Amino acid sequence: MNFLEVVQARRSLRSYLDKPVEREKLEYVLEAARLAPSWKNLQCWRFIVVEDSNGRQALAESMGESNPGRKALMGAPIVIVLCAVPTESEVWEGKDYMMLDAGLAMEHLLLAATEQGLGTCWQGLFTEEKAREALNVPANVRILAMTPLGYAAEERRPRPRKTMAEIVFHEKWGQA
Ligand SMILES: Cc1cc2nc3c(=O)[nH]c(=O)nc-3n(C[C@H](O)[C@H](O)[C@H](O)COP(=O)(O)O)c2cc1C
Repeated sequence: MNFLEVVQARRSLRSYLDKPVEREKLEYVLEAARLAPSWKNLQCWRFIVVEDSNGRQALAESMGESNPGRKALMGAPIVIVLCAVPTESEVWEGKDYMMLDAGLAMEHLLLAATEQGLGTCWQGLFTEEKAREALNVPANVRILAMTPLGYAAEERRPRPRKTMAEIVFHEKWGQA
């Protein structure tokens, strides 16, 4: 797959096969995350790899019952939790670069997983304090997201996206 094909193939997948993920593939996706760009190269991100089913259950329980991600976290063999250390990034003119830095690293991971034939699904709707307790994350570290990682048991059609004309301007704001 070339890069655009990887981007096109990535979907949020919520059903997983009971099939382990090879260690090399796990290391590959983490390496892709490690190489992400960041504000002043401070690399605020940390990843927790959760394979134990009690840990995954506790993370699933940190989500609302209506969140479809709950099922995904229990079904996949691995959950990767994205954490960030706020003191390893900065807020500049009201922009919290920690969120961008960590988000970029996570997206690297999601795309690398797609290229390796693995499914993922960014999970944002969880109660941070419940996840903190489950994983012993210190109070000075934020837990920003998590994703299941595994072989998907579903195929999904691409979700709609805005058109190029809606999101790209030329020379000045609003110019087609
Ligand atoms: C910041 C963020 C938070 C998200 N939170 C959740 C979530 O809590 N539960 C869930 O099932 N999907 C969640 N998603 C997945 C989105 O619903 C999904 O990316 C979007 O519908 C587009 O679909 P696609 O990823 O298949 O292209 C989240 C995605 C992002 C980027």
